[in-house]
Amino acid sequence: MQYFVATNTPATQETDCIVIAVFEQGELSPSAQAVNQQSNGYIAKVIARGDIAGKAGQTLLLQDVAGIASPRVLLIGCGKKDQTTENNFNTAITAMAKTLEALGADDAVSYLSEITVASRDSQWNVRQTIHIAATALYQYSQTKSNVKPADKPLNKLGFFVQNADIATAIQTGDAIANGMNLARELSNLPGNICTPTYLADQAVELGQRFNTVTTTILDEDEMAELGMHSLLSVSRGSREQAKLITMNYQGAGDARPVVLVGKGLTFDAGGISLKPAGGMDEMKYDMCGSAAVFGTIAAIAELNLPINVIGVVPSSENMPDGDANKPGDIVTSMAGKTIEILNTDAEGRLILCDALTYSERFNPAIVIDLATLTGAIIVALGRQATGLFANDQTLADDLIQAGNDSHDRTWQLPIWDDYQPQLDSNFADIANIGGKEAGSVTAACFLSRFTEKFTWAHLDIAGTAWNSGKAKGATGRPVPLLVQYLLNRDL
Ligand code: BES
Ligand code: MN
Ligand code: ZN
Repeated sequence: MQYFVATNTPATQETDCIVIAVFEQGELSPSAQAVNQQSNGYIAKVIARGDIAGKAGQTLLLQDVAGIASPRVLLIGCGKKDQTTENNFNTAITAMAKTLEALGADDAVSYLSEITVASRDSQWNVRQTIHIAATALYQYSQTKSNVKPADKPLNKLGFFVQNADIATAIQTGDAIANGMNLARELSNLPGNICTPTYLADQAVELGQRFNTVTTTILDEDEMAELGMHSLLSVSRGSREQAKLITMNYQGAGDARPVVLVGKGLTFDAGGISLKPAGGMDEMKYDMCGSAAVFGTIAAIAELNLPINVIGVVPSSENMPDGDANKPGDIVTSMAGKTIEILNTDAEGRLILCDALTYSERFNPAIVIDLATLTGAIIVALGRQATGLFANDQTLADDLIQAGNDSHDRTWQLPIWDDYQPQLDSNFADIANIGGKEAGSVTAACFLSRFTEKFTWAHLDIAGTAWNSGKAKGATGRPVPLLVQYLLNRDL
């Protein structure tokens, strides 16, 4: 999709379709008023007939409206006038994108950019529109034989603005949308295609696509030399070779980097602590953290941001096998701490702890890990918010802010010392599970033992990275949050 700026009034704009907002109780947006006047009250008449009540997401397509240059006028309901919430706006944009895609229009101009959403400016409006529309139009096709693209897809979407510079907003929105789509594509692939080796190949490809990104891949022998026996113990139960993938985006000389560590479990069967069969297919999504690292690096490389960001992806399968971890096994991590593996299904922290220790070598300004780490976070926060933990409140606040800015929100949970005793082991320095209570917190506490040397945050994305049920599929979260966080840092 191409995006452009349109400055003409709705009546004079020449395009295949203009999109204008209407509100509840027959209220009109400025553009709808203009079209109404130009067409001698036609819009008001149609609304009075009762075909569109203005509720968020309602649509009505009008053809050949008198006095209007464009052959089509698409009315979109946006809820109560002057009270457009972010959710209503998202609903309206999704409806707009889907309707436009189904029309024969090649290009369209949206006047929804004149809506004020909460306290947001038109830059936000445009950026959000681009990434919401891209999300709505995404279609998984990689392993399906008969997915047809839209007959006459929308190719160009314009935004009406008069007194704002939205060129950067268009670029940013597009980069975020592309990053999300990359993350979704990787995440949606099945475990037999998207293996650790596949992810490593994708990282190499990303390095080839952007000359600002260099990729290094460590194999199991190299990881053994570094002492990553916690990570390797997980992979021992799998026939796939584990990989430690590093993608180094250099946009700011030798400035200290932000390191993003993404859990890349390409399939989590639980190991000997086998998971129940129902819904186990969804454990192909246990690499969504790594997918978001790929998506974020791609987005910032596309934007050429003047920062340094290093993506570190520990990637493995977790399978039951004669050589797999057994409950009670004790392994020594790269940091030298011994870990008693009381549940082989708590494998994410076992691969992350070594990747976090590995991150020390980059002298990071900040380390953020993102992981589909615990089912418990879905119980606590549902699918709305990503769980946030941090050993530094400024970093936590910055991530909360970035989540609010991008409508990809987080909610902070504690990692107080009070929880640490739950990880005590009679036989090792630390146990890999902390019992029934506060499962997401004790998982974060486990990681916190390996992050004492740097400023760190942990994002538990088990609830937000994919949807279950009929709409099963990856969401591309938290790419918007992370790109926003990096943009805010750069300001
Ligand atoms: N990948 C899972 C977490 C998960 C489970 C994400 C369900 C989304 C949906 C993780 O490796 C895991 O199995 N965690 C265990 C930890 C437990 C054994 C302490 C869990 O959450 O049950
Ligand atoms: Mn698991
Ligand atoms: Zn897992």
